[in-house]
Amino acid sequence: PKKRTLAVIKPDAMEDHREEILEEIRGRGFSVTQLKETVLSREMAEEFYKEHREKPFFSQLVEFMCRGPCMMLVLSKENAVEEWRAMMGPTDPDKAKETSPQSLRARFAADILHNSVHGSSSEQHAEEKISFIFGDISTDAELTSD
Ligand code: CMP
Repeated sequence: PKKRTLAVIKPDAMEDHREEILEEIRGRGFSVTQLKETVLSREMAEEFYKEHREKPFFSQLVEFMCRGPCMMLVLSKENAVEEWRAMMGPTDPDKAKETSPQSLRARFAADILHNSVHGSSSEQHAEEKISFIFGDISTDAELTSD
């Protein structure tokens, strides 16, 4: 059965890599069932990353995510969470270059903070973040069709 994940193209990748990332997402067989470009407010970014509130990089992370537009996407596919995470590669692009040179972060990310893309870490997180960003779209036709 198809599952959903939330994907984000972060501000550092929006200008130069957005189209290539979108093409690659579709080329790998994901359906993009929701999509919106948005500039996160500080409050939204803090809420979105609340699990990281205690981390030393939290304020930098919030700052970065608010600095320009992000692309928010709901991706639908079998094993969507894992498949999108594999496409992104490890959080740290230096590690990504070693272990998965074809991944988006290996190719586009500058450093561990400015790492170009985000993806939910579990199905439960995905549903929570999708509701937060898009409101309740649980009747999504793609999801209920099988
Ligand atoms: P993401 O997958 O969106 O989840 C949390 C984000 O915090 C991560 O991508 C990076 O943008 C950032 N991040 C994670 N670890 C670090 C770190 N050690 N230093 C700076 N930023 C980090």
